[in-house]
Amino acid sequence: MAKKVLVATEKPFAAVAVKGIKEIVEAQGYEFVLLEKYTSQAELLAAVADVDAMIIRSDKATKEVIDAAKNLKVIVRAGAGYDNIDLAACTARGIVAMNTPGQNSNAVAELAFGMMIYMARNFYNGKSGSELKDKTIGIHAYGNVGQNVGRIARGFGMEVYAFDPFMTDEQIKAAGATPLHSAEEMYKKCQYISLHIPATEQTKKSINYNLLKDMPKGAVLVNTARQEVIDEEGLAKLMEERNDFHYITDIAPVCDCFSKFEGRFFATPKKMGAQTEEANVNAGLAAAHQIVNFFEKGDQKFKVNK
Ligand code: 3PG
Repeated sequence: MAKKVLVATEKPFAAVAVKGIKEIVEAQGYEFVLLEKYTSQAELLAAVADVDAMIIRSDKATKEVIDAAKNLKVIVRAGAGYDNIDLAACTARGIVAMNTPGQNSNAVAELAFGMMIYMARNFYNGKSGSELKDKTIGIHAYGNVGQNVGRIARGFGMEVYAFDPFMTDEQIKAAGATPLHSAEEMYKKCQYISLHIPATEQTKKSINYNLLKDMPKGAVLVNTARQEVIDEEGLAKLMEERNDFHYITDIAPVCDCFSKFEGRFFATPKKMGAQTEEANVNAGLAAAHQIVNFFEKGDQKFKVNK
């Protein structure tokens, strides 16, 4: 029987990406199934019941979903962060979980600058704002997205610093930033901080009051990473105390404590960092190819549940 590949995206890919994924899957003689904009867990559970592979975005692949997918052998998160997949549940069932690192990183980096300019120019309200040129920016985690932020920041004439405990100074320098050796040092030095850390047990709520409080005057925290990494109560307390502190985020806060900071807070209505046609095509097609290579060649290069 032909293998069945499901694309399950609550937030759909661009149509051109869906078409490309379908073509790759069908060229292999597999069956393509699409579930978009689903509104209930029941729809997802029904859709996964008989599939061999699935492609998701931020969709939650919980233990319940994994267990309901009786034939599932491989699940690919078309994107970078795989905190939405229950890896233990996958491993327990012998299912390979993968991501597609780097494929949507330019889109996320460009959105970070879109938000920075929007804030620096007072939401385009016509009042005098500020420029990014000659400002300091600290990039927290210098992976695929971080390095794209660095490249664009250099174009703007910013002073670019990075902290990444998983990279050597030489690697950070080679990728165009000045390495710093602790988050504390970087947050003290940089007016702009751009977050690119994953949500893990170690990083959850790690961007907290103590780390943020010594940021320079006019501080701007830019979050295109994850909501979970922010200690929202601590950040809100700091923004009460410092009326020069700004927070711009692509992931809506859980805490209802930021809307009062008018002119200093902005959140996109829906997470949209990776929401470009290019990023959808890059990540979606990479995911489809990874599934084909897994079934046809046993390729597990991008496996994340090691
Ligand atoms: C990622 O981890 O790749 C980004 O957060 C993008 O997520 P999305 O595919 O849900 O937009």
